[in-house]
Amino acid sequence: MNTEEMYQSMKLKLERVVPDVELRIKAELAVEINRLKKERNAVILGHNYMEPALFNSIPDFVGDSLELSRKAAQTEKDIIVFCGVKFMAETAKILNPSKTVLVPSAKAGCSLAASITADDVRALKKKFPGVPVVTYINTYADVKAESDICCTSGNAKAVVESLKTDTIIFLPDEYLAGNVARETGKHVIFPTQGMGNLQFDTTLDYQMVGWNGRCEVHDKFTVQDIKNVREQFPDVIILAHPECSPAVVEASDYSGSTTAMIRYVKETKAPHYLILTECSMGDNIAAENPDKEMLRLCTVRCPHMNTITMEDTLEALKQTRYVIEIPEEIRAKAFIAVDRMIKIG
Ligand code: 13P
Ligand code: SF4
Repeated sequence: MNTEEMYQSMKLKLERVVPDVELRIKAELAVEINRLKKERNAVILGHNYMEPALFNSIPDFVGDSLELSRKAAQTEKDIIVFCGVKFMAETAKILNPSKTVLVPSAKAGCSLAASITADDVRALKKKFPGVPVVTYINTYADVKAESDICCTSGNAKAVVESLKTDTIIFLPDEYLAGNVARETGKHVIFPTQGMGNLQFDTTLDYQMVGWNGRCEVHDKFTVQDIKNVREQFPDVIILAHPECSPAVVEASDYSGSTTAMIRYVKETKAPHYLILTECSMGDNIAAENPDKEMLRLCTVRCPHMNTITMEDTLEALKQTRYVIEIPEEIRAKAFIAVDRMIKIG
């Protein structure tokens, strides 16, 4: 595709959400990225949170964490460029040790991944011996390596149910644990901080042991936000990612992974939708559904996902940066947990 063709194809999808002057610049960038992608035998995976111009031009595949893990597992290309955050690129490397995996920004972290260490998991396993550890994919490789199985927002319930045990350790998202507990009818206990030590009230009836990690974005949505929006738009349908608090999820009309929310809007017909997740995804849904009104709370943004730009993706391909490296003994252990999850379907 030449620049004019790229511009026309982007315009077709994005003219209502991206100003024309920006589209022309992004089209030029997209052509250069796609040329280098071919030259370097690379594949670009784009998370649903990528900004509209990037999302609609350079990825070979877009999706949620689960779908992109599957694509990463299947690729034949030499280089995987992950337009998402570091833990996602690490998952691609865990599944493809012989390939070069790049993340375009060195700053693309995640508050959930930063909330727990491998030492924390080892301490929990010591406190609850023999209890299987389920770890959210939003964690780093060394934490995954200490786990029995991973899960994403798209399969957390299925993964928990697949274990067929009375008790599990579910890390590190406190809210996802609460939402899974609600869906599966389990009780969850969380640590309390005391005298520098983590303590659990194990006298309580519990089937899940959680951790106090939170997504800094989804943590900010409140039940009051939902009440305010419903008052202003009584016919609104509200969708909340399961990283939102259980109270917010309960007050919403639908909860699911980023792809599940995209699908829900596509397949239903309501006058207004409010998506409680990273704002760019609202732009992408609005672009795909010109007949539907999307409401967004854009004061809440993911500072990590928003460091991924087309300019940096071009530099990533030019300079082969930033390369994901994982020590082999950690990668091999983490592979078992990720692969088990992928096999669950
Ligand atoms: P999904 O797996 O639903 O795409 O979510 C990833 C994420 O980081 C949401 O904040
Ligand atoms: Fe992490 Fe939250 Fe950003 Fe997702 S939205 S990458 S969970 S900080």
